[in-house]
Amino acid sequence: MDNTVVVGAQWGDEGKAKITDLLAQDADIIIRYQGGCNAGHTVVVNNETYKFHLIPSGILYKDKISVIGSGTVINPPVLEREMDELKKRGVKLSNLKISHLAHITMPYHVDLDGADEKLLGKGKIGTTKQGIGPTYADKMARLGFRIEDLYDFELLNDKIDKVLPIKNAILDKIYCLPKYSKDEILAFCRKYAKLFEPYVDFELIKYLNEAYRKGQKILYEGAQGVMLDINYGTYPYVTSSNPVGGGACVGSCLGPKAIDEVVGVFKAYITRVGSGPFITELLDEDGDKLQQIGKEVGVTTGRKRRCGWFDLPLAKYSVHVGGITSIALTKIDVFDTFDKIKVCISYMDKRNGQIYDYYPTNIKLHEHLEPIYQEFDGWKCPTFDIKDYNSLPKNMKEYLTYLEANLDTKISIISVGPNRDQTIFKGKNEY
Ligand code: GDP
Ligand code: IMO
Ligand code: MG
Repeated sequence: MDNTVVVGAQWGDEGKAKITDLLAQDADIIIRYQGGCNAGHTVVVNNETYKFHLIPSGILYKDKISVIGSGTVINPPVLEREMDELKKRGVKLSNLKISHLAHITMPYHVDLDGADEKLLGKGKIGTTKQGIGPTYADKMARLGFRIEDLYDFELLNDKIDKVLPIKNAILDKIYCLPKYSKDEILAFCRKYAKLFEPYVDFELIKYLNEAYRKGQKILYEGAQGVMLDINYGTYPYVTSSNPVGGGACVGSCLGPKAIDEVVGVFKAYITRVGSGPFITELLDEDGDKLQQIGKEVGVTTGRKRRCGWFDLPLAKYSVHVGGITSIALTKIDVFDTFDKIKVCISYMDKRNGQIYDYYPTNIKLHEHLEPIYQEFDGWKCPTFDIKDYNSLPKNMKEYLTYLEANLDTKISIISVGPNRDQTIFKGKNEY
């Protein structure tokens, strides 16, 4: 296998974890490179379902190393719960490594996330309320705590003295929320320092770079999706990190040369949770059908996901900014009972008829855009147990060929169900 990044190519929940778990079979090391417990990643193996938030989706393989990378943010109680649940189910964590450079979500970050959303009112982002934005904001403001800080008492002590008064002033004076005492924060840090110690690797950078030089195969697992990227997504309705392929370099400590391939995971339709523009959103029966058949409910928050048709201008943009070199198309089986399937090929500005066939980044403009669709005939047969490309229904192949041609990018994986084995690898010469 090539060193591969798995990137969500829409607004998250594309089925990245399934693809990561699948590709992990041929990898030596799997690295989660950004995001935190806002992610909800589902892996189904032999009809057993696992849900990951922080731990890489490669953890089910006993002989692979799983890394929570330096670009991530770690909410300690959430990681603790996730570890406990996996241990209870017999999953070995001895191959888990936590980067000493990952940032820590402190209890006040979670409070501030909730408080910001409340103040934003109607304009809220619809965050997962896991403290992600405030943790990354403090990282950038140089007020953050890193995992390694937990193991240097003097440093930790000084940092708390410096940071806590600022955080408490904001909690108290702006949000009228309770403050934290130094003892509370120290106790929190001590508890998790002890709990995570067996997994924290202070020499992770050396270890990963030497492994790469020895030819070990690296799989980078993205969270969220390109359209939630802080730079390229539907700002400000985005997350606070860089899910794009390039984020893997920064969040893993291996440079751009250590990446050969970026697999963009697209759903055959689109979903979104939280607020923000969504040009192909369906507020009709088709939307309900996608939501129900696709079981589109958020893993982390339990919110219903908004559903819509595949959006080609958005997908082209996503391929470009995501650095995507091949596509994994998931959940195409959800269309099995549909008479007609639509793909948005461009947008029209309702005010003046102007056509956009490339995604415009000004989201105010989106309010005036309506999708123009190309319609495809459905295949009206079950596809969940098909194992090879040639056996797929003709109409599905037409849909796939159309997407591939218009995205100018090969579709290398087609997923027809949540299980690891419900996957079809498409060869170079298969049309
Ligand atoms: P992630 O965040 O991108 O890893 O995706 P989620 O786990 O949040 O959501 C994807 C959901 O779709 C999960 O429930 C998966 O088990 C499921 N899933 C993944 N691939 C397929 C597929 O090809 N077909 C169907 N029907 N379900 C799938
Ligand atoms: P996975 O990895 C879908 C969305 C939230 C909200 C916005 C900002 O499972 O695909 P945040 O809590 O990150 O500050 O929220 O981003 N969001 C996700 N949507 N899948 C995710 O992760 C998401 N992580 C965050 O709903 O709109
Ligand atoms: Mg998810």
